[in-house]
This record gives sequence, structure tokens and C-alpha cells, in this order.
Amino acid sequence: MNSTQSFTNALQILGCSARKNGNTDAAAKLFAQGYEAAGGHTQTQFMRDYTIRHCTACEACAVPGSTKCVQEDKDDSAELYSMLLEAPAIFISSPIYFYHLPSIFKTFIDRCQCFWFRKHNRDPFVLSLPPRKAYLCLVAARPVGAQLFQGSLLTLKYFLSPFNIRLAEPLLIYGKDGPTELASDPMTVEQILEYAKAACNDTVPLYSTQK
Ligand SMILES: Cc1cc2nc3c(=O)[nH]c(=O)nc-3n(C[C@H](O)[C@H](O)[C@H](O)COP(=O)(O)O)c2cc1C
Repeated sequence: MNSTQSFTNALQILGCSARKNGNTDAAAKLFAQGYEAAGGHTQTQFMRDYTIRHCTACEACAVPGSTKCVQEDKDDSAELYSMLLEAPAIFISSPIYFYHLPSIFKTFIDRCQCFWFRKHNRDPFVLSLPPRKAYLCLVAARPVGAQLFQGSLLTLKYFLSPFNIRLAEPLLIYGKDGPTELASDPMTVEQILEYAKAACNDTVPLYSTQK
């Protein structure tokens, strides 16, 4: 981890699988490839490289004026918070575990409760964050299932909201289980490259949760 790293100059990619070199790592790499081919810059982080402690619901962060989680100096969360605060845009690539996001990602999401309280308490810094977009690719093994991604989409919407980041129309990929299945499917590869190109050109519409 490098706490002095700057996240302002490139779209930030966050790979959220516990499995290295699996399908969502491949999606992250393809997105970077497509985005950079369209003229953009990217940086990639993997959630599995960060140690994040659980939210203990101590509610210290609920006190108006509080700007920090009490766990922040004990783990790597500060770097990920900086990434969300500074990034011009983000791309999240995550597998589905038990119809939701993997625990290594969900643990970090819970820790962002401190930002939810800062917004609720009308912290001027949080209220001044510029509007940004989150591009998203969720990958699951099941070949069908209308509800497969619904919980994750709802969670991501509310997790990103204190950062003034809104979900763009996501890529929802069914039927990929073995680690190389996504990268060896030419149609999916093309779909991710096109999505990245559209992201770079800012032509991906915002996601409507009314669907
Ligand atoms: C703990 C665990 C739980 C999973 N739960 C689901 C699930 O509920 N539905 C599903 O379709 N696939 C499920 N999968 C399969 C993964 O979503 C799938 O293998 C995905 O391609 C993994 O992405 P990765 O290679 O980037 O890790 C699960 C896999 C694991 C390891």
C-alpha cells in the first residue's frame, strides 16, 4: 500500500475477487485495454491486496463533526477511501458470491458507513464532491436468474452515493465459472472492450434502478 499515491489522473479500476487471474481480473484487464485504446488512462487496484477491518457499529462516526472511522489507522482503508474521493471515474469488476458481493469487498463497503454519516451530518467536504460515474461488471456462474445481480446493484448504489458517484448501466455477465471462461469467450471480450470505449467517450447512460 502507498498512502501518498494520487488517484486523480486516471480512471480507477477495482478488482474485487478473492481469486487471482480469474474472470473478473480478466474483465478488469480488458476494460483497461479498451479504455486506454480509446485514449484514456487507468490504474488498477485489487481488493484482495488490502487488509480491511470490519465495521464494529461503534457509531463514533455518527457524531456530527467526526471525519474518521476509529479503525482507519489500523488497516489499509485510507488508501481506498482516497481512491473513491479523488478518482475521476471508477470501474468495479466483481464476482457474485451467494447472490451478492464477496466478503472482502462487502467489508470495505460497510466501513464506508463513516462517509454515509458525514453526508447525513452535512459535512461540507463530502457535500462538495463532484459528480462522477462508476462503471461496473458483475460476473456469475449461473447461466440464468432474474435476481442474480439485484442485491449487489442496490448495495453498490447506496455505497457510492456519499461519494457522489452514480452507477452507469452495468455489464452483467452470466455463465462464467472456471477462471479462464470469460477471457476465452470472444463475444464477452468484445462486449467489455466496447463498454470501456463507451466509458472513455462518456456515452454509457446512468443505470436506472426502476427496471
Ligand atoms: C464463495 C462463492 C460463492 C459463489 N456464489 C455464486 C452465486 O451465488 N451465484 C453464481 O451464479 N455464482 C456463484 N459463484 C461463482 C462465481 O461467481 C464465478 O465463478 C465467477 O466467475 C468468479 O469470478 P472470479 O473468477 O473473478 O473469481 C460463487 C463462487 C464462490 C467462490
